[in-house]
Amino acid sequence: MKQVFLNNFLYSPLKDRGMHYGANPLIFRKAEELRNKMTNAEELLWNYLKTNEWTLKFRRQHPLSIYVADFYCHKLKFIIEVDGSIHDNEDVKRHDAEREFNLKSLGLKIIRFTNDEVTLKLETVLEKIKNTISELQNSPLGAGGVTVFAPATVANIVCGFDILGLCLNGPCDEFTLEISDKPGIKIINNDDFDLPTEAEKNVSGAALLALLEETKDVKGFTLISKKNIMPGSGIGSSAASAAGVVVAANYLLNNRFTKQDLVRFAMNGEKVACGVKHADNIAPCIYGGVTLIRSVFPLDIISIEAPELHVTVVHPQIEVKTSDARQILKQQVQLKDAIKQWGNIAGLVAGFIKHDYDLIGRSLEDFIIEPVRSILIPGFDDIKKASKEAGALGGGISGSGPSIFMLSKDAQTAKQIEAAMKNIYDAMGMAYHTHVTTINKEGVKIV
Ligand code: HSE
Repeated sequence: MKQVFLNNFLYSPLKDRGMHYGANPLIFRKAEELRNKMTNAEELLWNYLKTNEWTLKFRRQHPLSIYVADFYCHKLKFIIEVDGSIHDNEDVKRHDAEREFNLKSLGLKIIRFTNDEVTLKLETVLEKIKNTISELQNSPLGAGGVTVFAPATVANIVCGFDILGLCLNGPCDEFTLEISDKPGIKIINNDDFDLPTEAEKNVSGAALLALLEETKDVKGFTLISKKNIMPGSGIGSSAASAAGVVVAANYLLNNRFTKQDLVRFAMNGEKVACGVKHADNIAPCIYGGVTLIRSVFPLDIISIEAPELHVTVVHPQIEVKTSDARQILKQQVQLKDAIKQWGNIAGLVAGFIKHDYDLIGRSLEDFIIEPVRSILIPGFDDIKKASKEAGALGGGISGSGPSIFMLSKDAQTAKQIEAAMKNIYDAMGMAYHTHVTTINKEGVKIV
């Protein structure tokens, strides 16, 4: 794509932007010039695009706002760029990033290839174009949208109330987000949970509003939310809603925010969910792996390298609201309990870092929270006992419950633990869901 620098008075965006997005006569002249001196790589790709298998109309050297797009399909709002080596230059890279942001803000999808990719790896280039076309044709939003998978998480990891958390490889929520030229957050719920659609009352909405406050060049977003993690299950449903959308927004904004900024925005979602800005689900959801939140104000998040671990989760089909589960906690802790708890937190972190499974197992003990909360969870003691007998290293309440999680060294043990959990709840006549998974090192994933 070539950027054309203009005097301000020459650039007059039209109200109805049409397929040229207000490009003025100067841009049209420039486009015509460029059409007459296409590079070899551009000529090669054009041969495929002008009569393509999808019967889509592509235009070459297309005037678009203050730019000229190398190839453009208006039906899909899709730009394909072919870059020469000048784009490796740092100044040009900065211009490219700014231009890409401006075009994405118009709801356009852009993919770029280098000249060498087109001339030497045409098959791969065409495959990527094909995949992008199918993605755009199936996208529920416009071309400028992005979809993310936001995973479930286990907060506390037994002894680290509000300071430790780990990310799971499933289940995941799915969010599709698009920049909108209308102010605020439009939320479309694509599931059966009947969550509020007013942004201030919605966990994703609150997180996005916090991000928007620091994003003066964007007015709003449209969100399609498809939740699979049941709210109130104790595996970070609200965190997935908050973390997923801010990661998606950051992608659309060319990753201008740090992960720590994203945690800060997403904590506003937790505030809506339970009244407290805790980060022990959000941080692992965004960073992946195991995280320690040494401090919330100011934020100090430490990623902890952990060995391979398998996680078995059972979710008895009752709902425990985090706000309720926090309300019942005692506000004072006995020094003797605090000392035992500190020993376990330090032991657990050391166990992760040293990959010492025995140390992990013996540190998974909670003297402060579990004795109070476990009474809310049917069959808690029996599930714990049976899981340990089935080979679990240890485990306990996942977040604020009612889910219970257990860690184990291998997939076979994780399945045996699941069977043991099922036996207990079947005998009690308790409905449940189980998840057998592993630690997710990546966190929210952009699709
Ligand atoms: N640390 C929080 C709590 C996690 O236990 O209340 C909630 O998911």
